[in-house]
Amino acid sequence: MSVAHGVKTLGVVGAGQMGLGIAYVAALKAQIPSVMLCDASAGQLSKGVAFFETLLKKDVAKGKVSQSDADAARARLVTVEKLEDFAGSKGVADMVIEAATENLAVKQKIFGTLASTLPLETILATNTSSISVSKIAASAVGAGVKPGSEEAWKSPARALGIHFFNPVPVMPLVELIPAIQTAPEVVDRSRAFAQACGKEVTTSKDVPGFVSNRLLMPFINEAVMALEKGIASRDDIDKTLRLGMNHPMGPLTLADFIGLDTCLSIMETLYRETADSKYRPAVLLGRMVDAGWFGKKSGKGFYDYPAK
Ligand code: 3HC
Repeated sequence: MSVAHGVKTLGVVGAGQMGLGIAYVAALKAQIPSVMLCDASAGQLSKGVAFFETLLKKDVAKGKVSQSDADAARARLVTVEKLEDFAGSKGVADMVIEAATENLAVKQKIFGTLASTLPLETILATNTSSISVSKIAASAVGAGVKPGSEEAWKSPARALGIHFFNPVPVMPLVELIPAIQTAPEVVDRSRAFAQACGKEVTTSKDVPGFVSNRLLMPFINEAVMALEKGIASRDDIDKTLRLGMNHPMGPLTLADFIGLDTCLSIMETLYRETADSKYRPAVLLGRMVDAGWFGKKSGKGFYDYPAK
């Protein structure tokens, strides 16, 4: 039996490329009546809104979206300044998706604030790419809730991982990651929400990297090791996978696109949490991150991306 997602007001934490993409599909495809976008940086928030409008314009110009659907999607987007505004004069969120920086302490703080602000019925989701969802869920307990009380155990049951892929408007998949605390109905409602956003859904256990990054990141890391060892040139490594295996991007280009800091952080999580040497991050990947070469977003990675 299909379950209704019941999301009328969505909160999105982080107006970077992932958060913005999530807000976009939620407003345009799922037609969530109110999509509240929040970012700690006012500059990032206005950049996010401008990008949202650019995406709509492009889709209208391509004839993929009508002008009236685009106007309706834009009208659904609301910006808020702080997490507490997810339960304020602009409405109370039924679901919040956190797409902030890939840092456990930051996510724990956000989940603590969300749990203090929002009712127990609100689903709290993280778009983490590799951090333990159970650990993040454990921080979804409001300030003042007595440790060991019924509420302290119940509150993390509304948390789970909802993992979108970059670029969110284009990639057709969402990976759901129930934490060990997650209630089954939270998974069912989240699946219905992702489907309403036009996505296919898979489910993974809460293991390091889940299914997606457990397979993708060692592949990217191996490509960096092949380059490091001089097995082939950068271009030939990418060309091999593009033309030999029909990948849309070679692994080094894809690493630049994802962000080398993100790739390194996922490899470090895999290596630390499994203690398996097959997940050892390539030394070159670490050195490039040391140098501030984060890929496309910083202008330099395996390739150069001159500012436009
Ligand atoms: N936002 C919205 N739309 C975008 C976009 C963006 N950032 N970038 C590209 N697009 C759209 C384009 O507008 C175009 O749309 P159209 O078909 O309606 O014209 C379409 O995507 C194709 O774009 P292009 O023609 O410019 O270029 P490509 O054909 O090379 O496609 C790509 C670009 C879709 C990014 C393709 O190269 C691709 O699929 N690459 C692999 C991406 C991938 O593997 N992503 C997953 C990364 S892993 C991840 O996210 C998990 C995390 O945890 C690490």
